[in-house]
Amino acid sequence: MAEPLIAFQTVSKLYAGQPAVEAVTLDIPAGQFVAVVGASGSGKTTLTKMVNRLVEPSSGSVLVEGADVAASDPVQLRRRIGYVFQGVGLFPHLRVAENIAITPRLLKWPQPDVAARVIELLDLVGLPQAYADRLPDQLSGGERQRVGVARALAARPAILLMDEPFGALDPITREALGRATRTLHDKLGLTTLMVTHDVQEALLLADRILVMAGGRLLADATPRDLLKGHPDPVVAALIDTPARQARALSALMGAGA
Ligand SMILES: Nc1ncnc2c1ncn2[C@@H]1O[C@H](COP(=O)(O)OP(=O)(O)OP(=O)(O)O)[C@@H](O)[C@H]1O
Ligand SMILES: [Mg+2]
Repeated sequence: MAEPLIAFQTVSKLYAGQPAVEAVTLDIPAGQFVAVVGASGSGKTTLTKMVNRLVEPSSGSVLVEGADVAASDPVQLRRRIGYVFQGVGLFPHLRVAENIAITPRLLKWPQPDVAARVIELLDLVGLPQAYADRLPDQLSGGERQRVGVARALAARPAILLMDEPFGALDPITREALGRATRTLHDKLGLTTLMVTHDVQEALLLADRILVMAGGRLLADATPRDLLKGHPDPVVAALIDTPARQARALSALMGAGA
């Protein structure tokens, strides 16, 4: 079997003695789109931040391409791992182009390469070139999220971590951005770990869903398998709502035909 691109080996994180993530073990092969769902405070952000060393595990190891991230240079590591922050977190005083160019600049790319990459990225995430000179507060929420994705992809990472990338958006924009992200994932051959509160979004976009509760990994399965039912009542309840809505909608559409 091919080596996993990301591996968690009995990873725990404690804050003041309290576990935020507890004994998580899992392998993510290259190319997979993985969604992380679970209640607020269940450890989703903590789990993802251990991949790029924004958080260090209290015990256990996280491996990227077979190497323990604890032994890698954080700047080099983050070049290979794009990160879309919870709440996007663009620098408000920097223009769109400057926000997108942060990592390439840190990596000291030549200026013409940086400029060319910004043009390419605006195109990739479907934003007009004219937006390059705007400040973040001159954009809609959905446009800001697109800039966040462009910034995360700037240095051509193999891995994309996204923490609630489409939070606080209307459902239509959210769905469009979700689909655009999945298309980018496929086109660029990324390995994606996306945290979301929206179980339906996770079911429709991801190849695999991780369900967290109280820092533990309660379920790890494909959308299709999760929809067949799950022995854990927390997982079953989480999946049941979108499944019930889908059944109700299809009954409604059937009734109208
Ligand atoms: N820097 C920190 N210091 C202390 N406790 C923390 C810290 N970061 C997270 N925690 C705690 O760890 C637990 C998990 O937090 P985490 O942010 O990973 O949850 P989450 O699943 O991302 O929640 P949300 O859906 O609200 O973003 C929570 O109980 C939280 O209070
Ligand atoms: Mg979070």
